Amino acid sequence: MNNEALVETIGLDAGYGGTVALSDVNFSAAAGQRIALLGPNGGGKTTLIRTLSGELKAIEGSVNLASETGTVPQHDPARDGWPATAADVVLCGTLDSIPWWRRPGRRQRKLASEALAAVGLADHSTTTYGELSGGQKRRVQVASALAGGARILLLDEPFAGLDAVASRRLEDLIERLAQNGSTILIATHDLEQARSWERVLCLNGEQIAFGEPDSVLTRTNLELTFGSDLIEVPGGGLMAPPHHHEDHEH
Ligand SMILES: Nc1ncnc2c1ncn2[C@@H]1O[C@H](COP(=O)(O)OP(=O)(O)O)[C@@H](O)[C@H]1O
Ligand SMILES: [Mg+2]
Repeated sequence: MNNEALVETIGLDAGYGGTVALSDVNFSAAAGQRIALLGPNGGGKTTLIRTLSGELKAIEGSVNLASETGTVPQHDPARDGWPATAADVVLCGTLDSIPWWRRPGRRQRKLASEALAAVGLADHSTTTYGELSGGQKRRVQVASALAGGARILLLDEPFAGLDAVASRRLEDLIERLAQNGSTILIATHDLEQARSWERVLCLNGEQIAFGEPDSVLTRTNLELTFGSDLIEVPGGGLMAPPHHHEDHEH
């Protein structure tokens, strides 16, 4: 693996039960980089994230990681009512690092409270997860991913359903984590966000393009990525189609 990379794939085919859903992914990302994962619904963003995290096995090719990964899964309303406190949710993120027969101890609690502080929620440690706003929930999940010591963070559509203020806070958090040396892959439908990050990876059943935003975000690549779902904005801009699932802050 190239010296500076925290994560890379070489000729990766990923999918389910031996059936390839996403083929020939070749990219590498270094500390400090935010990588936008762009693609239509069904394009393979979640499949890539699950393969990088080790939840799915590569069908072909390889995934090379220089750190643990921490995942914030796609939003699932079924988890919104968790009766656990924010601190307990974050503590769960430390459990992979201890043997299954151990209970989390002082060290894990310290890691969890540091992670909560890092996402700006130190004051909410005893708040029930279900009582947090959508944006706070997402940051608690980021804290949980961080608490295990991961430097590779995989965020699956973390902005879905967040209002502008909550999105802005999460964007600022992601920027800080990158500056502190993490590599962060972020599935998004927002082309402006993608343009503001360090790298863009376009997927549509296969890798369409990877590189710096200016070279990747061309009309040709966006058409190959989103096909006829690509939306023309009056005045000459282009927009990716919206998410399938929308929820709202309350
Ligand atoms: N659990 C699964 N079993 C079989 N096929 C799946 C499963 N999850 C996703 N797929 C298929 O893999 C492809 C990529 O899906 P996915 O990675 O979820 O896309 P995205 O996250 O970009 O919307 C789609 O064709 C989808 O139908
Ligand atoms: Mg997905």
